[in-house]
Amino acid sequence: MLILGIETSCDETAVAVLDDGEGVLRGGAALRSNLIARQTDLHARFGGVVPEVAARAHVEALNPLLERALEEAGCDFGDLGGVAVTVGPGLVGALLVGMAAAKAVALATGAPLVGVNHLEGHIWANFLEHGPPRPPYVCLVVSGGHTLLVHMPELHRHEVLGRTLDDAAGEAFDKIARFLGLGFPGGPALDRLAREGDPDAIRFPRAMEDSGDYDFSMSGLKTAVLRYVRAEREAGREVDPADLAASFQEAIVDVQVKKTIAAARDRGVDTVLLGGGVVANSRLRERMLAEGERAGLRILYPSIELCTDNAAMIACVGASRLARGERTPLDVGADPNLRLT
Ligand code: KG4
Ligand code: ZN
Repeated sequence: MLILGIETSCDETAVAVLDDGEGVLRGGAALRSNLIARQTDLHARFGGVVPEVAARAHVEALNPLLERALEEAGCDFGDLGGVAVTVGPGLVGALLVGMAAAKAVALATGAPLVGVNHLEGHIWANFLEHGPPRPPYVCLVVSGGHTLLVHMPELHRHEVLGRTLDDAAGEAFDKIARFLGLGFPGGPALDRLAREGDPDAIRFPRAMEDSGDYDFSMSGLKTAVLRYVRAEREAGREVDPADLAASFQEAIVDVQVKKTIAAARDRGVDTVLLGGGVVANSRLRERMLAEGERAGLRILYPSIELCTDNAAMIACVGASRLARGERTPLDVGADPNLRLT
């Protein structure tokens, strides 16, 4: 069955067509097309995503992208067996653009609609290539808007173990990257710069490392970086940007690795899934893999393109939910604060 996926929760307009083969749970699903129109340049001069600008850009990009996605997939609207769309969390105006399009396709073709939680999408990006391993899992979801640790006792069931108390991990990367003059969004550039630096050059605080829970906090680290640079400059010393980037990144990665492994042990699971844009970070992948394996855990993460926002992951969740008989009514609203349940 062919599932159309539509994702417009933030600043990426994304459309995918997924052939779920024997069903996504069996593996062997094939992406027929997976297109993304990024708005990075539009928002870069503001130093962050501007919600109204994002919504308007989705309106302009979506229809041509839909047509191209079907053309690349070699199918027509009438061939679709289901339509999956992100209904939250995200920017409400941005979400509504994708949802209006998805509802129109569902209404015109009679294909069933299924609303998908963006965060569940990030987790399911792991299953696109190989189908899901046997649950339970512990999942770390780290993106521009979210940082959370989730226990998944079974597919489509989530117990949130902890979350960030202030900034999301991606937000912290972006803010320090901007401070270093690396542009927006700066996560990938900071990752590249950090490869030339020494992660042990500066010992930044590991916030909430030993708090005994699964919550995170980024604001203290951010302040510590700014304070360090100010103090060094006042003392007339040069700060090596690569060392600063590597040391900051190490502080974030350290806490994420430690808490994720502790959560997996605590819940007695042997599989850990990573998802979200920050999982594109090379140091996080490397450390999580090495230390997870040392702890006897199986660590899975999606390929880099499937870590950041995309519609393939939304189609993947949608295919599984549709196969379970779930249907979302056409009058469903967007939920900017939708939680994982
Ligand atoms: O999941 P995503 O595409 O969008 C949201 O749902 O928020 O995540 C985007 C975030 C941005 O903050 C971006 O800077 C960060 O992921 N990011 C990275 C890397 N690639 C993307 N952060 C650190 N290292 C990277 N390589
Ligand atoms: Zn995302």
